[in-house]
Amino acid sequence: MKVLVIGGGAREHALCRALSLDPDVRELHCAPGNAGIAAVARLHAVDVLDGEAVAALAAGVGADLVVVGPEAPLFAGVADAVRARGIDCFGPGAEAARLEGSKAFAKDVMAEADVPTARAYVCTTPEQADAALDAFGPPYVVKDDGLAAGKGVVVTGDLAAARAHARACTAAGQVVIEEFLDGPEVSLFAVTDGESVVPLSPAQDFKRAYDGDAGPNTGGMGAYTPLPWADPKLVDEVVETVLQPTVDEMRRRGTPFSGLLYAGLALTSRGVRVVEFNARFGDPETQAVLARLRTPLAGLLRAAAQGRLAAFPPLVWSDDAAVTVVLAARDYPAKPRTGDVITGLAEAEAVSGDAYVLHAGTKLDDSGQVLSAGGRVLCVTAVGADLTAARDRAYEAIRRIGLDGAHYRGDIAARAAEAAAD
Ligand code: AMP
Ligand code: GLY
Repeated sequence: MKVLVIGGGAREHALCRALSLDPDVRELHCAPGNAGIAAVARLHAVDVLDGEAVAALAAGVGADLVVVGPEAPLFAGVADAVRARGIDCFGPGAEAARLEGSKAFAKDVMAEADVPTARAYVCTTPEQADAALDAFGPPYVVKDDGLAAGKGVVVTGDLAAARAHARACTAAGQVVIEEFLDGPEVSLFAVTDGESVVPLSPAQDFKRAYDGDAGPNTGGMGAYTPLPWADPKLVDEVVETVLQPTVDEMRRRGTPFSGLLYAGLALTSRGVRVVEFNARFGDPETQAVLARLRTPLAGLLRAAAQGRLAAFPPLVWSDDAAVTVVLAARDYPAKPRTGDVITGLAEAEAVSGDAYVLHAGTKLDDSGQVLSAGGRVLCVTAVGADLTAARDRAYEAIRRIGLDGAHYRGDIAARAAEAAAD
């Protein structure tokens, strides 16, 4: 099989790594990729938001399967353009990707499918928004309806700040005001072909920049899987109450969702609630989840793209735990500095055969040095017999990496490792 992966972050590096380990994959291509992906795939410079250009590249390299990593190409209809050429594509079309792209759309689908989520009002005027804020009370949750790349959500106890964000959102479109959900958050991914749902191992993400969940929100500073503290019945429950009904409702609407359906969940005292849907693999959870998947990835994703999941054998997982820790650039997330030299990558991977570096924002300079090229620079992923062993390896490896001013959280999976040891 020849596979083309679209994207260039650590999630795509994890996807490429797993695909390169699938014995059925003969050739691996990636656009645009990064310095780390270059070691396992042939890189191509193409505008990944241009569906025709991506489809032409896929046809040009003879791809049997295209896997779209990030949301922006999905929203831009890249999967539709690839399929229109008769090439299998893992990822929803633009219409179905609205489950992530529009919070109001996602709420409507959930209401129709009876999926448990936060009660919400979709408002178009500041007056409606103010009334909704008063109806729920603090803490206030105010979400821009549109594509805000994770920056559109404000959760605050400050009514003036909530109102100000709601005004900014209504000036540009709609705002979703919803009830506050408390309780731990879980990311559950499911591979789907639009009918069948195959859940992956649940994971937890760390969104705040600093230890103890302090500091600003980020794209994610680390993740781990599995969740030793979670009810073993959680996955079955979420398939039954969230994932299958959502997939069924999308099919009923004539816009089947095929690809990766990511449910961001809050485990509240009143039960599981959906916080958000994403239409793609999560980053950095994917780096941890794929580290444990033993089923060859290309075969799974192609079965989804071809509508053959009902007959797909049960997934095989290693008994290990996996932890991924993100190394972020100086002043990330506010104003990350780029262009610094990264050292110690080989030393980090020498810690153990079970720890490896996945590149997020890196590039090679003319002399072959690896430079930082983004806010999240790289991830170290490690597996171990339990979360404590995986953490120890990941942190030993990340300590060997040199990048001026870089920072990482020291507490990824720490509480879960303690809970598992009790
Ligand atoms: P979203 O883009 O909808 O995933 O929101 C980003 C983050 O804001 C989530 O991961 C949560 O941590 C937080 N959040 C979103 N909605 C709620 C809610 N209803 N209650 C509490 N926290 C929320
Ligand atoms: N880990 C959060 C996300 O991928 O949106």
